[in-house]
Amino acid sequence: MRASQVSISTEVAGLALPGVVMTASGTSGHSDELAAYGRLKDLGAVVVKSLSPEAWEGNPPPRLRPLEHGMLNSVGLQGPGISAWLRDDLPRLRASGALVVVSVWGKTVQDYEDAGKMLASADIDAIEINASCPNVEDHSRMFAHSATATSEVVSAVGDSHPRWVKLSPNIADVPAIARAAQHAGADAVTLINTVMGMAIDIEDRQVALGGRGGGVSGPEIHAVAVRAVYECRRENPELPIIGVGGVSRGDDALELLMAGASAVQVGTASLAEPRAPWRVQEEIRSWMAKHGVSHIQEIIGAAHE
Ligand SMILES: Cc1cc2nc3c(=O)[nH]c(=O)nc-3n(C[C@H](O)[C@H](O)[C@H](O)COP(=O)(O)O)c2cc1C
Repeated sequence: MRASQVSISTEVAGLALPGVVMTASGTSGHSDELAAYGRLKDLGAVVVKSLSPEAWEGNPPPRLRPLEHGMLNSVGLQGPGISAWLRDDLPRLRASGALVVVSVWGKTVQDYEDAGKMLASADIDAIEINASCPNVEDHSRMFAHSATATSEVVSAVGDSHPRWVKLSPNIADVPAIARAAQHAGADAVTLINTVMGMAIDIEDRQVALGGRGGGVSGPEIHAVAVRAVYECRRENPELPIIGVGGVSRGDDALELLMAGASAVQVGTASLAEPRAPWRVQEEIRSWMAKHGVSHIQEIIGAAHE
């Protein structure tokens, strides 16, 4: 079998995706920035950086710190706000022919409701609800660290578009939060956001990042993502999962698919190599051809059989 003969199209809760690899929110810009590196419509979808109803300036510098096998970031969700994004960024991204997934975040449940209303009639394919951010009404505990708050933000966004809910791995029982999201109307969950971390600059004897705490991403967190996906699939077999975390090679993506993800996202790897999402997709194809797997559906969840 040749790589060109295998099918890597997939679906997430009825939404057909032309490819199994998407971009991960926050690592490929707000629009068609990656179009210089490959055809966006060959990917599963483009997931844009999280947007809030109003513009937000993010955290003070420094915002990034390299780690031995990944990175620590405290970008702090900088963005232009949803209205400006709809006007300035969506048209170019739509024109690329890619599926468009808009990630939204907020500081309060009301922010999520406002975001949902602002996007209700937008020409987009899905909304990814980033629930891994601080809830100012709950002592800045992440929404996704509470089943109740997760349910509230899912309901608040409304059902104008398919809802994927991006969850935090910084909690013991990720499947329980996923279940709460599902009961509130989520069509799928995206697992995982970054792992909470911190670095100290030992010469300055100070916390290294301007935002103080940060999120660890890249190969260092891949095994955490595999476990979250596996356990969520085992506990909630009917809930579609998008796997993300430390995917830099086709083999990493295949692990997440076999653990139960219907599609995967590539984040940190794209920062060093913007063609990474396409390369990972081609490496999946090659693996499938070599192993006589003609359709991606044959391997999704295979590790549970
Ligand atoms: C610089 C940077 C910015 C990010 N911004 C967002 C964001 O705005 N919204 C979001 O849901 N996730 C964001 N993430 C998390 C990624 O989408 C992804 O869940 C995480 O990094 C794990 O995947 P990776 O190891 O492939 O990067 C960001 C990650 C990085 C490294």
